[in-house]
Amino acid sequence: MNPNTPSSLFSLHRRAPLALLAFAFLPMLSLHAQDTPRQRTSLDAGWRFQKDDPADATGKLAYPSVKAWVIATGSELTRSGTAAPKPEGNPGGDISYAQPAFNDTGWRQLNLPHDWGIEGPFKQEYPSDSGKLPWWGVGWYRKHFNVSEESTGRRFFIDFDGAMAYAMVWFNGKFVGGWPYGYASWELDLSPYIQSGDNVLAVRLDNPPDSSRWYPGGGIYRNVWLVETSPVHVAHWGVYVTTPIVTSTSATVQVDVHLQNAPAAGAKGADAKPADAKVVTQIFEAGGDGQPLGSPIVTSPLSAAAQPGDSTLRETPLQIPHPKLWNLDKPNLYVAVTSVLQDNRVVDRCQTPFGVRTIKFDKDQGFFLNGEHVKLNGVCDHSDLGALGAAVNVRGLQRQIELLKEMGCNAIRTSHNPPSPELLDLCDRMGMLVMDEFADCWHIGKRPNGYNVLYDDWHEKDLRALVRRDRNHPCVILWSIGNEIPEQGKPEGPAMASELTAIVHEEDSTRPTTFACSDTRGGYNGYQKGVDVFGYNYKPWEYAKFHAANPDIPLFGSETASTISSRGEYFFPVTNKASEGESDFQVSSYDLYAPRWATIPDAEFTGQDQNPCVAGEFVWTGFDYLGEPTPYGSDSTNLLNYFNPADKAKAAEELQRLGKIQVPSRSSYFGILDLAGFKKDRFYLYQSKWRPDFPMAHILPHWNWPGRLGQVTPVFVYTSGDEAELFLNGKSLGRKKKGPFEYRLRWDDVLYQPGELKAVAYKDGRQWAQDVMKTTGPAAKLALQADRPTIKADGQDLSYVTVTIADENGLMVPGSANLVHFSLTGPGEIAAVDNGDATSHEPFQASQVKAFNGLALVILRGKPGAPGPVVLHARSEGLTPVDLPLQTQ
Ligand code: GAL
Repeated sequence: MNPNTPSSLFSLHRRAPLALLAFAFLPMLSLHAQDTPRQRTSLDAGWRFQKDDPADATGKLAYPSVKAWVIATGSELTRSGTAAPKPEGNPGGDISYAQPAFNDTGWRQLNLPHDWGIEGPFKQEYPSDSGKLPWWGVGWYRKHFNVSEESTGRRFFIDFDGAMAYAMVWFNGKFVGGWPYGYASWELDLSPYIQSGDNVLAVRLDNPPDSSRWYPGGGIYRNVWLVETSPVHVAHWGVYVTTPIVTSTSATVQVDVHLQNAPAAGAKGADAKPADAKVVTQIFEAGGDGQPLGSPIVTSPLSAAAQPGDSTLRETPLQIPHPKLWNLDKPNLYVAVTSVLQDNRVVDRCQTPFGVRTIKFDKDQGFFLNGEHVKLNGVCDHSDLGALGAAVNVRGLQRQIELLKEMGCNAIRTSHNPPSPELLDLCDRMGMLVMDEFADCWHIGKRPNGYNVLYDDWHEKDLRALVRRDRNHPCVILWSIGNEIPEQGKPEGPAMASELTAIVHEEDSTRPTTFACSDTRGGYNGYQKGVDVFGYNYKPWEYAKFHAANPDIPLFGSETASTISSRGEYFFPVTNKASEGESDFQVSSYDLYAPRWATIPDAEFTGQDQNPCVAGEFVWTGFDYLGEPTPYGSDSTNLLNYFNPADKAKAAEELQRLGKIQVPSRSSYFGILDLAGFKKDRFYLYQSKWRPDFPMAHILPHWNWPGRLGQVTPVFVYTSGDEAELFLNGKSLGRKKKGPFEYRLRWDDVLYQPGELKAVAYKDGRQWAQDVMKTTGPAAKLALQADRPTIKADGQDLSYVTVTIADENGLMVPGSANLVHFSLTGPGEIAAVDNGDATSHEPFQASQVKAFNGLALVILRGKPGAPGPVVLHARSEGLTPVDLPLQTQ
């Protein structure tokens, strides 16, 4: 994994002693003092930031005026590989912020990744569909760094993992390039303008309003890297590793290397010379950190010479004997270490982690990993990390994957855009499958300033960039070319889908393409033939029909359920009508409610169980996310979900009504876990289905209903068993068994009395699991629990601390909403607070938060380079305070 640590004062040394050590053990290929392998250094630390343009930029840098220069970027990602010619001139070169001499010391200092939107404040009048946070607008970033004299003649590149959005980059005052799609990763060649001594980067972002159906964040919200190479080097994303033959005794590894033989930086006008370069790849087992372990398993013969310009060479296939396969329980990884040699010197070296595994989508039986059937128990997720916003954080992502795995989830769909590279690294290492998605629309948009504006000029580059970047990850099993594409029901849809599939297959022929189709017409009008595997959104009743009409096309549920609920909220009477269950901008957590295009989990489970050809599902969503607070969102793109005119008209009316109400909601209700990552009841419904061998039972609702004495208060039990007996204060309320296609046990007529509910679950007649829910006393004290008591002192690693409002006996008090204040002693700080309440406008960056239904979250990080003991103090009026010792190291 790429370290997420900002480097301190940046300076370049060509031969880092650490790199020498790391490779010292490689027989024959250990690095020597005269070698010049690449240096890839984090460029996250020490930026200056300023919102808005200076007066001298007014009107000059709008995308249409600079587009001719920007689209010259990324020519290597076109079929022809040729650049759109860059017009003469230096756009923006006369603008103060772009100039190297500009004095930026008055600007705010910060480290990347940075999301300016999450800083808030929330405002009622901001659009609810994108989170009521100010993520749009123009922002400038500047960074100085030093290049030593020694580096003269080297090539320099800057890699942005993602910048939201419409980035333009000047280097030492010269416009170098840019990239509009905020979710794409891209590289710029700085070599023509590099100088020894001080160098200055200036980055302008322009995040258009009305461009997203959810919260996209704003800023350089992913990592940035400086890459220094020799003139002859492996190109960006230039190593492609496949394993065309895998058996239990051997795996064939095919390594393709894209070499670049460029003129030395600064060698103005001089063309590169043919280079007598040789390439060699060694395969190692990878350790938990993705680094090579021990000695190479196999080494390729030296091959090929690099011509001037670009060349791709296919190395002699290598064999790994008795390969350790990558799978969900044991995600074994290997690393290909590719070295480029000239005159017996290593002039470049890069590492490519990969896995050995086979995948197959079968038209009748679904998905197979290494020949074994695996049902896709997946979730869709947007990329924000709740209170941390869009700024990528490795621990934040890792925690999400841990929670999802605990539920039995084995796949993530990166809705509806390319994810951060760190997410894929984690999925590789933790054993999680990924459906990697390109975009939310093509030429026809869903938002006035959505990807539709860019599609014609950029789709080829953006799609190739996605596949080329991600094609070595064993976790990736599907390339999704789009979500609910408006062209799906139109005559042009099939040809557009086929064009995108062709682009993907030119970059990677080892995985199928898919899309998420929401319009049943798309299952029959030819659109379905534009991909290798067909994904239906919200159509469990359509599976059998699709399969009958398209018996050769594998099928899965690309987006399912969209059940809505608020953690800890229950409304009465409990009705089975999916459109009910709403009150006071919250949604009842009996898991019976969903918008009209959607279903409850049980309906999708039935569709899956009745149609074994369906490879599985991706539930909308794993976690609540910022924006799209359906059913309280005024997001008019919801209308895209209606194909029946009467339904559409009704929905339009509802939206109009909502538009007139002061709706506070700023985040979604779809999550199985809430925005803070706390489990809703639904977590246990999915766990009961997805982990049938894990003994569990879960009771809902909570049992504090002082106003409901003697009233009907239904009790549900989710269990991986097949029956359960429910007791209220020791008295049996009956034993119930799940019938065919039943996934929850319901006692609909329970009359409320305070005390204790107990469920005893059985499987195959034997006692299997139990759960207890007690009426609590009043709130008396605070309790703190850290997910990890020891974290790294690097400013990035996090400890998620759950704050519980508890009664005297330590039981969480339902409905409690006490305000909790935090302070810290020691070298730690509060990264964010949250409570998972979709209606809260409290700032995330604060030292206090109100509990929501008994829980709150405080996210802590250590101060970089200052390890030591940290104590978190939590205080709340009228409650016994609590202190939690932690450690940063
Ligand atoms: C789908 C759409 C998702 C989200 C979801 C909410 O139609 O693809 O992005 O909007 O509806 O139910």
